[in-house]
Amino acid sequence: MSPGKFVTFEGIEGVGKSTQVARAAAHLRSRGVEVVVTREPGGTPLAEALRRIVLEPQEEPLDGISELLLMFAARSIHLANLIEPALRRGAWVLCDRFTDATEAYQGGGRGVDVRDVHALERIAQRGRRPDLTLLLDAPVAVAAARARARGPQTDRFETERTEFFERVRAAYLAILAREPGRVHRVDATRGIEAVAQDVAGSLDQLAVRGALADGP
Ligand code: TMP
Repeated sequence: MSPGKFVTFEGIEGVGKSTQVARAAAHLRSRGVEVVVTREPGGTPLAEALRRIVLEPQEEPLDGISELLLMFAARSIHLANLIEPALRRGAWVLCDRFTDATEAYQGGGRGVDVRDVHALERIAQRGRRPDLTLLLDAPVAVAAARARARGPQTDRFETERTEFFERVRAAYLAILAREPGRVHRVDATRGIEAVAQDVAGSLDQLAVRGALADGP
């Protein structure tokens, strides 16, 4: 076990993930915890270069399997160069999206076989999985209206249709049903404060569990 904790934030576009990641980091820092905030795809210079390839609209088509491999290549780099070193020195890593996003977007959204996602997870992550995942959940119509209010939607996922996001949300809810111990659903239709309080509650629970496991 690493001394640090690995917490991921998930949900469709427009549920307020980035705001909540920042709030969660402030909450933990106020308790004296070292926090590393990062995101996927990306998080290191090399992984951010792959992010540009996978998110920027391209002339040349990028099929679902190629997209899947790029996500895991970025993840493997991110784990080796940023996440694992931070966890080893005892930091809490807060990551805006991780492998559940691959299962939801490439699996649910694009229709890639989920067994392929799990096979690559084993290869790329070498046993590393999040200690806690906060799934910020809201109906697609609510999230989409918020995402639109932020400005023009331009990347390769933002321009997808409503049905795509319905499949992504359904895949996230299936992960929640499968792993209720790791994944906490947070009702993201509420205001920022109420959501931040729920997130802080889950983080505090994880801190207590960690302290009990480490013993005196
Ligand atoms: P975001 O930083 O705005 O959340 O954008 C990242 C986009 O990449 C988002 O639309 C979801 C998508 N994505 C995947 O399709 N698969 C993945 O594994 C990850 C991490 C993100």
